[in-house]
Amino acid sequence: MKTAITELFGIQHPIIQGGMHYVGLAELAAAVSNAGGLGIITGLTQKTPELLAKEIARCRDMTDKPFGVNLTFLPSFTAPPYPEYIAAIREGGVKIVETAGRSPEQYLPALKAARIKVIHKCTSVRHSLKAEKIGCDAVSVDGFECGGHPGEDDIPNMILLPRAADELKIPFVASGGMADARSLVAALAMGAAGMNMGTRFIATKEAPVHPNVKKALVEATELDTRLVMRALRNTERVLKNKGVDQLLEIEREKGATLKIEDIHDQVAGVYPKVMVGGDMEAGAWSCGMVVGLINDIPTVKELIDRIMTEAEAIIRQRLTGFLDGHVETSAARAVA
Ligand SMILES: Cc1cc2nc3c(=O)[nH]c(=O)nc-3n(C[C@H](O)[C@H](O)[C@H](O)COP(=O)(O)O)c2cc1C
Repeated sequence: MKTAITELFGIQHPIIQGGMHYVGLAELAAAVSNAGGLGIITGLTQKTPELLAKEIARCRDMTDKPFGVNLTFLPSFTAPPYPEYIAAIREGGVKIVETAGRSPEQYLPALKAARIKVIHKCTSVRHSLKAEKIGCDAVSVDGFECGGHPGEDDIPNMILLPRAADELKIPFVASGGMADARSLVAALAMGAAGMNMGTRFIATKEAPVHPNVKKALVEATELDTRLVMRALRNTERVLKNKGVDQLLEIEREKGATLKIEDIHDQVAGVYPKVMVGGDMEAGAWSCGMVVGLINDIPTVKELIDRIMTEAEAIIRQRLTGFLDGHVETSAARAVA
C-alpha cells in the first residue's frame, strides 16, 4: 500500500509506532521498522543525550530501515536539555522526529537544518494547522480515545479526522484507538494517510516491558481507562489500578486547587515500576481505550502483516462487495 506517509518516510506500510515512555526502546522500534512500519525510540526515556545516542546506535544495529525518535515537550519536574537531545539525533543520522506536547516551533530550525522530517502529534485541528504553518512535514492527529495526553477538547477521531482532512494540506496519520485493519481502513476513509498506534504495540512479543503489562492489556476492556490530571490541564488517559484510584480520590478532595505535588507519588517514577518491575498497581501510566480491542500478544511482524492482509481484504472484498450488492453475514464482518 502506498500513501503520502509511506512515501514521505520511505516505509513499506502506513503504520507508525508512537513514542512511548519506557516502551519505545531500540528493540520495539527496530521490530516495527523491520516489519515495514516506522518504529520510534522515545527520546526522553533515555536520561541523557549520551544515552539516547547509544540507544540510536543500538537500534541501527538491529535494523537498516528508517526509524525515528520522539521528543516530548510536556510539563516535567525538571526540563530536559532539548538542544543536546537534538544533537544526539542529528549525529546518530536519524532522519525522522516525532514531536509531541508543546509546539516544536523553537526547535524546528535545528531539525530542518539537519534535513530531519518532523511529524508533530497533536490533539486538535488548530494545533495541526499551526504545525503545518511552522513547517512540520506531517501531523499525527491524536483523538480523545488515545492513550497518553488527549488534550482538553475531548474530540474523538470520528470527528477529528474528517475535520483535519478538511483543513490540512500536509499528510496526517490517525492516532488514538487504532488497533487493527478496521482502524487502518477507517482512518484512510476519513482522510488520513496511515495510522499511529501506541497501546496496541505494547502487547507484542518484542515490546521490552514486563509480561504483567502485556497480560493486563489483554485482560482489560474498553471500560478500564481513566482520565487523570484534568484540573492541571495536563489530562492523561491511563489504565485503572490501585494507584490511579488513590490519585482520583486526591483529585476529588482537592478539586480545582489540585497541584502536581499533591499527586507526586501516584505519577512520578511510575513507569519503571510498571514497565520494568511489573507492579500493575503503582499509579498512572498511559493506556488507550483501544485496550478493549487487544486480545493477543503477537510478534510485531505478525501484527503488521495481519493488519495489512486484512486491510486489503476489507477494501477489495467487503467494501467493493457493498457496491456489487452482496449482503454479508456477521462472520464475514469479524477480523482477527
Ligand atoms: C505507555 C504509553 C506511553 C506513552 N508515552 C508517550 C511519550 O512519552 N511521548 C509521546 O509523545 N506520546 C506518548 N504516548 C502516546 C503514544 O505515542 C500514542 O500517541 C498513543 O498511544 C496513541 O493512542 P493509542 O494508545 O490509542 O494507540 C504514550 C502512550 C502509551 C500507551
